[in-house]
Amino acid sequence: MEFRCTPADASSWASSGNGDTLAVGLFSGEDGTTLEALEAHFGPGLKERLEQRRFKAKPGEVLSFDWLGRRPGTLLLVGLGEAEAFDLAGLRRAAAAAAKASLAAGGTDLGLALPLAGVEPAEAVSAIAGAVRLSLYADQRFKSEAETRPLPERVSLLGFEAAHDGVLAAVGATCAGVELARELVAAPPNVVTPQALADTAAAIARDFGLELKVLERADCEALGMGAYLAVSQASSLPPKFIHLTYHPAGEVRRRVALVGKGLTFDSGGYNLKTAGSQIEMMKYDMGGSAAVLGAARAIAELKPEGIEVHMIVAACENMISGDALHPGDIVTASNGKTIEVNNTDAEGRLTLADALVYACKLELDAVVDLATLTGAVVIALGEEIAGLWSPSDSLAEALVTAGRDGGESFWRLPLQASYIEGLKSPVADLKNTGPRPGGSITAALFLQEFVRPDLAWAHLDIAGTVWSDKGRGLDPAGATGFGVRTLVNWVRSGGPA
Ligand code: BES
Ligand code: MN
Ligand code: ZN
Repeated sequence: MEFRCTPADASSWASSGNGDTLAVGLFSGEDGTTLEALEAHFGPGLKERLEQRRFKAKPGEVLSFDWLGRRPGTLLLVGLGEAEAFDLAGLRRAAAAAAKASLAAGGTDLGLALPLAGVEPAEAVSAIAGAVRLSLYADQRFKSEAETRPLPERVSLLGFEAAHDGVLAAVGATCAGVELARELVAAPPNVVTPQALADTAAAIARDFGLELKVLERADCEALGMGAYLAVSQASSLPPKFIHLTYHPAGEVRRRVALVGKGLTFDSGGYNLKTAGSQIEMMKYDMGGSAAVLGAARAIAELKPEGIEVHMIVAACENMISGDALHPGDIVTASNGKTIEVNNTDAEGRLTLADALVYACKLELDAVVDLATLTGAVVIALGEEIAGLWSPSDSLAEALVTAGRDGGESFWRLPLQASYIEGLKSPVADLKNTGPRPGGSITAALFLQEFVRPDLAWAHLDIAGTVWSDKGRGLDPAGATGFGVRTLVNWVRSGGPA
């Protein structure tokens, strides 16, 4: 799919005869100027047809007309809803609806005429192109025969000056990152293993010139990563601690670390996940690491100036065997804190504890972790909104803004200091789980115990947002690649203030 911008409007693009499918956005209650212009090209009767088919131009509503022996042979009218309520999210939804309808119509050369939604042209270009690409993504890797139609070859954004090449390149790199994250999350646990995550990091490092360090079990032992290694100890697959670094050319003004939970499978350990706990879906428990690696791929290609980015993943599996962690074991993390493991299914925070201690030893201005950490955040916020915790107002705000610009939603929740009582252990410094109420908050408080207090830190719980059974917005059913756009936008905006 090749995207380009052209100042031509819908009618002149149609008259040029270059494309086969034209999609035009219509507001509800629009005065008819758009339709008249289209009638001038396609012939009279369009308005009557719209009435006949009860087209109301509701958001996402699409009407398709076909002509034989004409170019473009397909006209798609795309509902935009009320003009006053039309925003960036509406623009994305309309672009995705048009793209899906054009795929159904078999179009190969698509022209899209959609309005600005009250934003700068560059922002609109980014939203439209991103929505088209991400909504048409289909993962066929595990089918013996492809079931989907070929994608359009060319997509023209009508009514935009051709000077948006930089924007389109950024969209391309970011979408490639989102797609990488989706592929990693969607692949089953017998394919995406800790080694496969390390191999993915190696491929990014090789293709884009990043620095890569992979710590093996013995290296992690030497660093005293007793919490992380305890989680991995029952698996026949060795743990891989991945540290990928993007060094900008020229002066370094900011340094940040992105830390992702990388459980390639979470059985729950001896606190085994039972029926109804979605054990068969726990391939997506590496969603945080997928977002971090997807962002690494995009950042490596976009090469933002002045910011050094460390991508860190303590990858492993949470399994059972004669060597497994027992519920009740006491382990020691690499900062010396002892943890009574009162629940082996709260394993993500154990791996993140050592990953955060490792990150905090680097020279940094901020650290952000992403994790499919708790079922409780899914209950609290559902599948469209991720939880955000941070002691820093400015970091929290910057991440919410970066998310909004990329079409990803976060809701900030409190680091209620008194709830740390729930993590007190009679025998160790901490236990790894507290009471069920406020379970996502105590999980965040647990992580905070492993972060240098002088460092700006944010924790993003993406357990609800990494997967969508039915698909939503720009996300086809399955893995969403959630987090990549937020991280890329945040890093490109310069990171911490
Ligand atoms: N990976 C899970 C969290 C999860 C649950 C992600 C459902 C996506 C959907 C995590 O390791 C876990 O098992 N958390 C437990 C913690 C509990 C034992 C305190 C949970 O949320 O039930
Ligand atoms: Mn678990
Ligand atoms: Zn888990």
